Amino acid sequence: MTSLVGDLFLRGMRRGGAEILDFDMSAKNVADCRGCFACSAGFGRRGVCAIRDDMAEALDFLDGADALVCLTPVYFYSMSAQMKRFFDRCFPFVRGYRFDPESGRMLNETGFLKKRKKFVAISVASGRLDDVFDALSRTYRMVADAMGFEFAADIARGESAYFAMRELGSVRVRRVLSAFEASGEIFARAGEIPADRLEAMRMPLSRGRESFAKNARVFWQLRRNGTPFESFSMVSDPRILLREMCATLDPSRAPERADFKFVFPDKGWACLVSVRSGECSFVESADAGARADVAVTADSEDWAGVMAARRDVSALMRAGRLKVEGDLSLFAAMKKIFGLGGDRRVGGV
Ligand SMILES: Cc1cc2nc3c(=O)[nH]c(=O)nc-3n(C[C@H](O)[C@H](O)[C@H](O)COP(=O)(O)O)c2cc1C
Repeated sequence: MTSLVGDLFLRGMRRGGAEILDFDMSAKNVADCRGCFACSAGFGRRGVCAIRDDMAEALDFLDGADALVCLTPVYFYSMSAQMKRFFDRCFPFVRGYRFDPESGRMLNETGFLKKRKKFVAISVASGRLDDVFDALSRTYRMVADAMGFEFAADIARGESAYFAMRELGSVRVRRVLSAFEASGEIFARAGEIPADRLEAMRMPLSRGRESFAKNARVFWQLRRNGTPFESFSMVSDPRILLREMCATLDPSRAPERADFKFVFPDKGWACLVSVRSGECSFVESADAGARADVAVTADSEDWAGVMAARRDVSALMRAGRLKVEGDLSLFAAMKKIFGLGGDRRVGGV
């Protein structure tokens, strides 16, 4: 997800006329800083790192650049190890220290002899609340200060799961993604990003804690299953769909005992979902029909749409895409029993 928003931002910057060195730390050969201070060249000069590797290319480009845009996933409330290594290896730019009477602090003197630089930080996390980014934002401010960068934007993008799951691909997600591209272009042209664009990139995607938690569970389940990102979808595995449905069972509205058969013809897969005394479970079973009170037949994508309240049940039935046999009043009650749609819907976006 980090590269998704990052690539859009860079695409926008290119459209805005920027010449870019896209320096992907995970694809480059860049060793850890050894802390040998051999690069400490003294006032007025840029030091030369004792380590000879791909970092030299980044340092040369950065020296003459107008801006540094850093992109990282949030790992344990901080930047990735690769990003940290990048900053450590920027030490040749640090040429000494001076006392700043205004702040009462020691500040680095940096050796960017050619140009002063703007700094944009883009951080992507699965978490939803501001505290996920607090420590990293503070670190970035200190780093920018230490390196003599002018902080242009701190873009904290949470809820990364929403960018991966097709069922949740809402208008808001598209707005956020296009805001990244537009902001890159504006930044390349104007050197700053207006407040409304910053807001658009940070726009919350979940309705609340409950729907966020629900979607996050599905996301992690998909990752654990090793589902490739291209086909990242609840629909790719109907077991996840039903596990999610069971997890949203409202015991106060569930009957003491009920059995639901689900057939997903697109997956060639059927199962029996059983509700017993407020508990829900399901078993894979091709011949579950005999015991079921209700039998539902639909393609998994359509059923995911029903769960997310984005497909209309009556319209699907009229079109012959959703078939229901058995106790129709129990089927109608499923909306409440399993919290389908409304506030408790999957994909509260
Ligand atoms: C080692 C590791 C640590 C993580 N730590 C956090 C964290 O502190 N807070 C958070 O919200 N997400 C955390 N995450 C989730 C990532 O921020 C999330 O998966 C993000 O989307 C990663 O970017 P990617 O989608 O480009 O891989 C962590 C993930 C990993 C692998």
